[in-house]
Amino acid sequence: MTTMEPQGGFSYSEADFRRVQDIARREAGINLPISKRSLVFSRVSRRIRATGRASFRDYLDYVSGREGQDELKELICVLTTNVTQFFREKSHFEHLEAHVLPQLGEKLRAGGRGRLWSAACSTGQEPWSMAMSVMAELPDALRMDLKILATDINHAVVETGRIGQYPAEEVRSVPQRWQDAYMEPMEMEQVSMAREIRRLVTFRPLNLNREWPFKGQFDVIFCRNVVIYFDDETRNALWKRLADRLVPGGFLYVGHSERVDCIRECHLEAVAPTIYMKKG
Ligand SMILES: C[S@@+](CC[C@H](N)C(=O)[O-])C[C@H]1O[C@@H](n2cnc3c(N)ncnc32)[C@H](O)[C@@H]1O
Repeated sequence: MTTMEPQGGFSYSEADFRRVQDIARREAGINLPISKRSLVFSRVSRRIRATGRASFRDYLDYVSGREGQDELKELICVLTTNVTQFFREKSHFEHLEAHVLPQLGEKLRAGGRGRLWSAACSTGQEPWSMAMSVMAELPDALRMDLKILATDINHAVVETGRIGQYPAEEVRSVPQRWQDAYMEPMEMEQVSMAREIRRLVTFRPLNLNREWPFKGQFDVIFCRNVVIYFDDETRNALWKRLADRLVPGGFLYVGHSERVDCIRECHLEAVAPTIYMKKG
């Protein structure tokens, strides 16, 4: 057995890395290529220290047992990549505002319901951006049956999203008039999502590769920059499940470097790069 990363106190063998790889794949569908082995070492070492375990083997035995199930969730959290930003991949928001929300507004004003889902929401910038687009296009949204669901496997980022406070530096990409309308300045160079807009968004932890504890369908699903971490089989299975959860005429937005390969089986039509519509 080869010892790969002796730095930082713990010895770290190839077998340890393989065990973490297996756990990430089995629990979250996440692929950890060998290029991530140093990253895995530093992230898992943090958890070994936090839990007072003696070694990689001791820690991995612990998370594999019944007693370590809460810690297993923490391990998955540190193995996720949570990079995001407000209005990331701006063309999606332009499409949403120009082609989707006006129609959705008609449906809502006729007494229908609107459901949007940010399916790997990370620290919340994506669902809050969706909410700002909604408020700008449908100013009466709060009086209609419209909701945005924001979910992620990582409970810590979901909590950050729910708190909805960000460094002022980070919201610079948000148009000033939207910052004025939907954010409130705080102390210490922080801003907070304003009280009104908060009523639109609900945050929940959710593993996309497990059963989903809700039944309804969505008008809009953003599932962006998450399937890049999955293998082909997991990715295609997820596209099918997401497509099943779209209302006819609903839209699926995927990351700019991603693509839905199974559009026929999923009854989807590519309407713009990385934007798909469910056939009626
Ligand atoms: C790079 S972020 C993308 C955030 C946002 N969608 C965006 O495009 O800016 C990927 C997110 O996917 C989440 N994730 C990874 N595996 C997941 C799974 N099996 N179920 C739900 N979320 C997952 C991670 O926790 C992370 O927050």
